Amino acid sequence: MANASSGLFSPSVPNLRFKVPPFLGIPIPRFDRFSPKVVCFAAPIPHKTPPASASSSPSQPRLVSQGCKLVGCGSAIPSLQISNDDLSKFVDTSDEWISTRTGIRSRRVLSGKDNLSNLAADAARKALEMANVDPDDLDLILMCTSTPDDLFGSGPQIQKELGCKTNPLAYDITAACSGFLLGLISAASHIRGSGFKNVLVIGADAISRYVDWTDRGTCILFGDAAGAVLVQACDSDEDGLFSFDLHSDGSGLRHLNVSIKQNDSNDALDSSNGSVLDFPPRLSSYSCLQMNGKEVFRFAVRCVPQSIECALEKAGLPASSIDWLLLHQANQRIIDAVATRLEVPSERVISNLANYGNTSAASIPLALDEAVRSGKVKAGQTIAAAGFGAGLTWGSAIIRWG
Ligand code: UT7
Repeated sequence: MANASSGLFSPSVPNLRFKVPPFLGIPIPRFDRFSPKVVCFAAPIPHKTPPASASSSPSQPRLVSQGCKLVGCGSAIPSLQISNDDLSKFVDTSDEWISTRTGIRSRRVLSGKDNLSNLAADAARKALEMANVDPDDLDLILMCTSTPDDLFGSGPQIQKELGCKTNPLAYDITAACSGFLLGLISAASHIRGSGFKNVLVIGADAISRYVDWTDRGTCILFGDAAGAVLVQACDSDEDGLFSFDLHSDGSGLRHLNVSIKQNDSNDALDSSNGSVLDFPPRLSSYSCLQMNGKEVFRFAVRCVPQSIECALEKAGLPASSIDWLLLHQANQRIIDAVATRLEVPSERVISNLANYGNTSAASIPLALDEAVRSGKVKAGQTIAAAGFGAGLTWGSAIIRWG
């Protein structure tokens, strides 16, 4: 809720006491009703729960008793690398300021003939290869992006690029930096509720297309990338999504947005002598990314730990039991503040922000992919992942890799 007297933004966080039911040991996936505001899922931890029974609570919507697990990941980055020193030639900034205030040293930027769909398809191919899943065996492709190559969506284009002969359903999810996390939960819902087997979740963004490269307050933060994860159906006792917690609060939109605006002049219209006022509409285009960095920072360090604590509570896990903390990579100071609040030591925090900056929907799968391929994250380990950003939208998930 906005605080009218101070003018400060203060997103509403639901009272956990009413949102989190006590853990009842019900061994089937379960939705806390389909609330339009908060959809919460709590699945019991397989090795700590009794064996699955066939019955479901009559007060809950019926869902297929089906688990899902993360079995493959991949990522791709553009070839053009821009260092902090490179940026200091365009705007009044320095490597010292950027690295101290954000932890970022370099970022990748789409250029030339590169496009986001190619990048996303590259990441997807690697995830499929790791998962040993053929593109023809995909049931669904979720392209999480706010910067698609086509306003009508890029999911079907990626289906085409992957050469899926079976034409699996493919569509986009637009939720900026929370996009991948929402895609992951959507994938799980499709698997558990609709019987899908193989769902590809791609997080990809090219925020460089909407950044004002003369604004040092924003241009230093962002980079372009794509990451992907293959989510696969499995028996409920192998379930790898332990719990999640998701939120949106539109009152914070003013602090981070890329809004539509009508162009000032439109030659075609000006010469049309139209008799109806304001019709036809003028051509529109998107403005550059606008951000109140301080407000977004405060929102993140307050709401992200609360969300992770809520998800951990639903999973029945203490923060000390998670192997890795994997946050949306926006600012190292945000990552450090959240880790400190949750008392997670720095050696259990995944961060690759220094090399890529904030890659929006790509940041979580990109960091996960690097951590998995470097051998840091091992099969069976538990990850607390959290995304946050424009909308405002934020949330977390407690997952097991592999
Ligand atoms: O996916 C979510 C997306 N967004 C975020 O997560 C952003 C969260 N916010 C942040 O990361 C930080 O607020 C920023 C990195 C954007 C800014 O850091 P800050 O510590 O909040 O700096 P500030 O905006 O308060 O600026 C401090 C000073 C100002 O100068 P004065 O007024 O003190 O003289 C700025 O003009 O630093 C100046 N400044 C810069 N100086 C050199 C701002 N940007 C720069 C820059 N280089 N790039």
